[in-house]
Amino acid sequence: MRPFLKWAGGKTQLLDAFEERLPRHIKETKTITRYIEPFVGGGAMFFFLKSHYRIDQSYLFDINADLIICYKVLQNSHRELIDTLEKISSEFFQKTEEERKTFYYQIRELYNEQQKSFNYEVYSSVWIERAGFLIFLNKTCYNGLFRLNQKGEFNVPYGRYKKPKISDPAILKKVNLALQNTQIFCGDFTESEKFVTQDSFVYLDPPYRPLNSTSNFTSYSKDGFSDSDQKRLAEYFGRLKKKGAYLMLSNSDPKNEDPDDNFFETIYEGYRIERVPAKRYINCDAQKRGAINELIIRNYD
Ligand SMILES: C[S@@+](CC[C@H](N)C(=O)[O-])C[C@H]1O[C@@H](n2cnc3c(N)ncnc32)[C@H](O)[C@@H]1O
Repeated sequence: MRPFLKWAGGKTQLLDAFEERLPRHIKETKTITRYIEPFVGGGAMFFFLKSHYRIDQSYLFDINADLIICYKVLQNSHRELIDTLEKISSEFFQKTEEERKTFYYQIRELYNEQQKSFNYEVYSSVWIERAGFLIFLNKTCYNGLFRLNQKGEFNVPYGRYKKPKISDPAILKKVNLALQNTQIFCGDFTESEKFVTQDSFVYLDPPYRPLNSTSNFTSYSKDGFSDSDQKRLAEYFGRLKKKGAYLMLSNSDPKNEDPDDNFFETIYEGYRIERVPAKRYINCDAQKRGAINELIIRNYD
């Protein structure tokens, strides 16, 4: 089972490293009583765990309201969403390459215009349309990334893929099934605190701390994620530890760029910090691209 969106910071390539480091009781029983993910994004870890483990209850959070709309629509109206995507897809593929590009920019404009007066509070059929627009843009935009500018607008250019998979009913049906027994929330990561119990497993994947000035991708939402948010998260980690929950957190490793940078060693002092290799492009200079480390921080052995 795969994520239904391509998401910046998606964790598909690190799943083996994460699985190896799951709490022992989860590996032995293949069961997670309560799973909590405060920065769900594309949900690579959630969908992976859902297809290999029994998860009794899940709680997913993200601050990005449009992403959360997609999750809620997939949970409640996946058939209607599939119909919407099938329509968009057949319209797209009837067009010439130049017309496809124009169509993309029309949908992008409609999507940004819709945001100005969108009711994110009350579930309605317009949510299905908006989720369809987001998935369409994600599948056809340059690099398949969801990125917002300072005004909160989606501003990624057209991607020119030959055969983008705009509609993928098989995946969307699986996602719908995976989202049963799941509660989905839009909000700051701290809002997950009240759901965390002693038997919870919490996986935290916050926005990366920028490695250098050219790679500061922090714009999943227009508010970004600063070093003071990273510290706020470390305090939160400490509070969840006191509750007795099992915690796993991943982040970029600043030592890739600066071996003397001890930011995470300082704010996660006393926890188990490991480095695992990941392929990620951190530098515009192709020479410097390649394997770099990712941090995995846990409060258990
Ligand atoms: C690194 S991504 C998670 C990627 C995810 N693990 C995946 O596999 O696709 C970080 C996510 O945190 C969300 N986010 C940013 N600030 C947040 C906050 N204060 N509270 C909750 N979520 C936040 C972003 O919208 C983004 O989806």
